[in-house]
Amino acid sequence: MKKISYVNGKFVDHKNAFVHIEDRGYQFSDGVYEVVYIKNNVALDWDLHCRRLQNSLDGLSIKYRVDGTVLLDLVMQLLQKNKLESGFLYLQISRGVAPRNHDFPNPLVTASLVATISPEKLLSEDKYKTGMVAITHADIRWKRRDLKTISLLPNILAKQKAMEEGAIESILIEENQLVTEGSSTNFFIASDAGTLRTHPANNKILSGITRSCVIEIATKNGIKIIEKPFKKDDIFLAKEAFITSTTKHIMPIVEVDGHNIGGGKVGEVTKKLIALYKEFVENQVEKGKI
Ligand code: PDD
Repeated sequence: MKKISYVNGKFVDHKNAFVHIEDRGYQFSDGVYEVVYIKNNVALDWDLHCRRLQNSLDGLSIKYRVDGTVLLDLVMQLLQKNKLESGFLYLQISRGVAPRNHDFPNPLVTASLVATISPEKLLSEDKYKTGMVAITHADIRWKRRDLKTISLLPNILAKQKAMEEGAIESILIEENQLVTEGSSTNFFIASDAGTLRTHPANNKILSGITRSCVIEIATKNGIKIIEKPFKKDDIFLAKEAFITSTTKHIMPIVEVDGHNIGGGKVGEVTKKLIALYKEFVENQVEKGKI
C-alpha cells in the first residue's frame, strides 16, 4: 500500500513528500516537532502535545497558532489515507522557505508544516520484562532543551554511540556530573526507599509528556517523586532505573556503563509503574472512542 504524507496543505505520495531546499528547517534546523502515539484512532495526550508544540513555536518566535481541533482533523485524515488505526505521528513545523539569511525572513513567510504516520513499533513485551542496557554520554547540547526543536545533532551522536555499544540509550551527563535525561527520553532512578528521582523540568531537559504522566500516576498511587538533579554516581547506587518517552513508554534500564542496576533485574516500583501506565493508556483509548 502507498504511504501518504502531508506537506504544506497537501496529502502526497510519501515518495514525493519534499520540502524546498531553502526551507529553514532544512538549512538551519529552524523548526520544531512533536511525536504522538496514536492508538485505535485516539491521539494520546493530544492537548499536552499541542500545548508543548505552541510553547516550542513561541520559544523560537515562529508565528504559527496551534489549533488542536484542526490539527487533529489532519491527523485523522492521514490515518485514514494510510489505512492505519495506530502508529506514531511525526509533525514538524519550520519557519518556512526564504532566501538563506540567518535573521528571520522579513516580511514573514508562511511556516512549513509536514506530517507522517508510521505504523506502531513499540519494543517487544519481553524487553519490558527483562529491561535494557544504557551508557552515559557527555551532554553537549544548547541551553534551551525545553524547546522541542529539530536541531538534534548532539542527541543523534549520543544515540548512535549507544547503538554502537549495544545499548538502547545514552544518559546525558553535564560537565558538573549532573544527569539531565536520555538522548531521546527522560530518565528516572529509584533509590533504596523506593523514592523516584528525576531532573526537574527546566531549560536543561525536554519536559516529556510521558514524564509528566508518569509523575502524575506515581503521585496518585503513593509513589514519591523528587524532581531534583542527581549525579552520575547516583545512577550506580540506584536500585531501579527507567527511561520514558512517547515511543518507548516506560522502559526499564538494568545496566549502565557495565554496572548492574538492582542486580540486573527490573525493580518492583518500575514494574508497578509499567502496569499503571498501561492502564492509563487503555483508559484514554476507551474514553477517546467515538
Ligand atoms: N523524543 N527528552 C528528549 C530529548 C526527547 O527527544 C524526548 C522525546 C523525550 C521524551 O518526551 P515525550 O515523553 O514527550 O516523548 C525526552 C521523541 C519521542 C523523538 O524525538 O522521537
